[in-house]
Amino acid sequence: MPKFLYGIDFGTTNSALSIFDEEKKEIVSTISIPSLIYFNHISKSANADNYVIGEQAISEYLEDGMRGRFIKSIKQILSRTTFTETRIQNKRYSAADLVALILKDLKQKADKITGFNCTKAIIGRPVFFDDDDSQKDTLAQTRLKKAAESAGFTDIRFQFEPIGAAFAYEKLITKKEKVLVADLGGGTTDFTFLTLDPAKVGSNDRKSDMIASGGIYIGGDSLDSAFMWEKGTPYFGKNTQYEATRGQILNVPKSLFANICSWDKMNFFNGQKIQKDIDDYYYFSGNDRKFKNLITLIEHNLGYSVFQAIEKTKIELSSNHLSDFKYSKLGIEIDEEISIDEYNRVIAKDIQRIDDYLDKFLLTHNINPTEIDCLFMTGGTSMVKAIKHLFKNKFPHIPVNSGDNFNSVANGLAYSGYLFAEP
Ligand SMILES: Nc1ncnc2c1ncn2[C@@H]1O[C@H](COP(=O)(O)OP(=O)(O)OP(=O)(O)O)[C@@H](O)[C@H]1O
Ligand SMILES: [Mg+2]
Repeated sequence: MPKFLYGIDFGTTNSALSIFDEEKKEIVSTISIPSLIYFNHISKSANADNYVIGEQAISEYLEDGMRGRFIKSIKQILSRTTFTETRIQNKRYSAADLVALILKDLKQKADKITGFNCTKAIIGRPVFFDDDDSQKDTLAQTRLKKAAESAGFTDIRFQFEPIGAAFAYEKLITKKEKVLVADLGGGTTDFTFLTLDPAKVGSNDRKSDMIASGGIYIGGDSLDSAFMWEKGTPYFGKNTQYEATRGQILNVPKSLFANICSWDKMNFFNGQKIQKDIDDYYYFSGNDRKFKNLITLIEHNLGYSVFQAIEKTKIELSSNHLSDFKYSKLGIEIDEEISIDEYNRVIAKDIQRIDDYLDKFLLTHNINPTEIDCLFMTGGTSMVKAIKHLFKNKFPHIPVNSGDNFNSVANGLAYSGYLFAEP
């Protein structure tokens, strides 16, 4: 009877599963889906699943006029102690319950391919779920394990995501190399420095090859938030003034707009007090159009579609020098040309933080750039021009390789079967 194990990369933006045939010692297939869940706004029958996952979540959410609950970047709540559960159509969901829906979807798709109920999985995790807080980190992994168990896995191991990426790269090389792997995803940027050796693929003795791992809580989502803050929020009332009392003109507090810069904070606007505040700003700003935009954004739940426009601009600027930041819905009209220089300015702080972290990583682990044979870059955010420049400038003489930006982690996790041999 064939034996399989699944390598699962549960990502902030995309999740992938690689099916590994343990007898043939090869990957049979890789499946990937966006890490999204959509709960329809009307509960269908009591027993029917009222949610959809992945691409279908996007299409149904848009078809439904962006009503219901659309859940994105759910990996980020794994480490959040303040999140215990959320209520969706009278059902309570813990963080693990939500993640389980994504893992279950991947497992069902994979089981259909293998024809087996595979219960053995190696699940990737970032080096740090949360910067510098080990308690939150433990909480996140415990929740992820629980999610994997609810999805039907009984034999579970964890592996650092960048080590997964490294093992995918190891399949491509012909000689022993010391490699610095950078995995830049939607939520986190992870590094690992290790020795790769094609002769060791699949062997059980890998511990001694690991030299250092580290990471920082910055990824593509952070770049999109920075863009929303700088280029998006002015269309929703940042930098406008209102008449606080007769004759007293004040700036609307900027802190208000931090809440539309990340997906998970949008719920902040559901409170009655805040809605009244915004109505007041609209009135006392002399019905400034921008506040009308903010009211429309909140009332019609348009956050996701605005972030789609932001992501589109970012992706275009990975290959072009110019892009249009364009959005047109329910009276909100944005059409602004963004140059790569302007974009680089907007994301400069995040790029600097990655740069600083990388310096600290090399220093802390005593890694001299001269001992790095090669860089392997993966993850969607590795395509951002400023990121490419950062690595090129820091390591001008080191060759840079890349593979499949979206599947390499899952593939490498599937090659990590040695973890089952460890006590
Ligand atoms: N061509 C591109 N240029 C720039 N960014 C891109 C491009 N394509 C995708 N991205 C960004 O890459 C990110 C997703 O990358 P990836 O799928 O590697 O992340 P993830 O594995 O889901 O996240 P994480 O590993 O942090 O949990 C998103 O922020 C997306 O906007
Ligand atoms: Mg990833």
